[in-house]
Amino acid sequence: MNSLTKVNLLLSFLYLLLGSLLGLMLGYKQTASSLFSMGGSPTLAHAHLQLVGFVTQMIVGVTYHIVPMLSRGKINSFKLGYLHTALLNAGLLIQVWGFLTDRILFKSFGSLLLFASIVMYLFNILKSMKWR
Ligand code: HEM
Ligand code: HEM
Repeated sequence: MNSLTKVNLLLSFLYLLLGSLLGLMLGYKQTASSLFSMGGSPTLAHAHLQLVGFVTQMIVGVTYHIVPMLSRGKINSFKLGYLHTALLNAGLLIQVWGFLTDRILFKSFGSLLLFASIVMYLFNILKSMKWR
């Protein structure tokens, strides 16, 4: 398994744990009301920790393993791979803090970083495919 896949998988497991903990807290009256008292939407925070942090990042990691294998090529750029992984994680945590506290600056800046990381990932994975 290459290091980019490994890092993305390990991070995705971490978000599954973190997102599920938040989900659990959403299920109990007392913990939920303290989360809602932060002023934002803990449900959106939970949804993105799970769907971006766990599911999307898991898919990113798996594609960096199977795409080069299936097309008998190699990963276009590990550097770009690490860069978009760092951006996704920074962006997600900033966005999630924005969702929890309803702070527009955190929401929009985090979302921009996330979007940039998605574009970089798409570029890198498409360049890693051999179209023959
Ligand atoms: C221990 C694991 C989990 C627990 C305890 C949990 C709990 C919850 C709770 C209580 C809500 C409702 C929040 C509300 O409406 O205020 C919720 C919503 C949600 N959960 Fe989870 N969850 C878990 C795992 C997951 C996983 C693994 C995913 C996705 C991969 C996920 C995705 C979502 C989404 C997308 C919503 C929002 C649904 C909507 O918009 O109504 N959850 N979860
Ligand atoms: C650049 C990346 C992304 C941005 C900026 C973003 C932003 C948002 C925003 C602002 C909302 C709230 C909409 C509202 O006010 O109701 C939302 C909801 C949602 N997003 Fe994302 N999102 C991103 C990526 C994703 C991805 C990759 C997934 C799934 C794989 C996802 C799944 C969802 C779901 C399920 C909801 C509804 C949750 C609920 O209503 O509880 N998002 N997103």
